[in-house]
Amino acid sequence: MKERIIQKSLASNKKPKPQTDQLEFGRVFTDHMFMMDYTPEAGWHDARIVPYEPLTIDPAAMIFHYGQSVFEGLKAYLTPNNEAQLFRPEKNMERLNRSNERLCIPKIDEEFAIEAIKQLVAIDKEWIPTSEGTSLYIRPFIISTEPYLGVAPSRRYTFIVILSPVGAYYKEGINPVKIAVENTFVRAVKGGTGEAKTGGNYASGLMAQELVADKGFAQVLWLDGVEKKYVEEVGSMNVFFKINGEVITPKLNGSILEGVTRNSVIQLLKYWNVPVTERKISMEEVLDAHKNGTLEEAFGSGTAAVISPIGQLTWEEKDLVINEGQTGEIAKRVYDTLTAIQYGRKEDPFHWIVKID
Ligand code: COI
Repeated sequence: MKERIIQKSLASNKKPKPQTDQLEFGRVFTDHMFMMDYTPEAGWHDARIVPYEPLTIDPAAMIFHYGQSVFEGLKAYLTPNNEAQLFRPEKNMERLNRSNERLCIPKIDEEFAIEAIKQLVAIDKEWIPTSEGTSLYIRPFIISTEPYLGVAPSRRYTFIVILSPVGAYYKEGINPVKIAVENTFVRAVKGGTGEAKTGGNYASGLMAQELVADKGFAQVLWLDGVEKKYVEEVGSMNVFFKINGEVITPKLNGSILEGVTRNSVIQLLKYWNVPVTERKISMEEVLDAHKNGTLEEAFGSGTAAVISPIGQLTWEEKDLVINEGQTGEIAKRVYDTLTAIQYGRKEDPFHWIVKID
């Protein structure tokens, strides 16, 4: 790793901290943020931790016009010994660079970015909430800042990391959610940006989500963009089905986001010798399994959502109630084990934890 200095200018006024048993997701931000700029001449430079504050950006900055941006999501947890720790940050930084490549954004030094996150979290450690199910969500992102209206990759960027003490992502908490299978709109197609973590993927998904929200659906389940036949992912999670004892998740195909939690769930299931397969799975297959009583469980996985059991899937006017709308055995076991490792209550046989010292 190149030796690089992170300048620090600390906030003179600390903000009041929220009550941690009433935290929502992503509404409150800590006292500091990390920033670093890119120009072709200097590369990534001027790494700094500064007080959290609004940015001043040229209205012609390319981010506002053509959406050239990428982001990540990971969390910091407080252990019973009051130590702060991260979960697999190297996976997030690897993915950030894959997204950078797809969006024509210059790559960052992954090790240095992890070091920056560690230093930032250490400074704002008091913001890591302690109530059950809460954590400090870390949002690294890169925006294109060159003032220019031509369609081309920007020549200037800013990399920013902000921190937000969070509670559960869904209002249902860890209780089962209702998901609508989306038949009209598509999220991504092969060759598009589906596997990159870029804001446009989420912007284009909003309408579908809004149209079902008032019917009580937490999110939509996206099908493949060509035949609208095969399951891809949910708005902010990857998805798993347990059919006849086998856990199945859609195989990565270029249009599905490669989730860090998805990867961890697969590793855990393999470790427990629970059959787990990454393959194409059609909604027809899910419906048939439901009809013949072999659809035992469904759940989503994601950093924000952790593990979210799916109690009902609605597809073409058919309501598939899964496991009587209750959290399944595998979803609970995965949730309990993953969170026990993340919060330092259980040994980490996979070396997923990175301590912040
Ligand atoms: C995450 O799970 O961290 C995500 O990025 C999903 C989301 C909140 C957009």
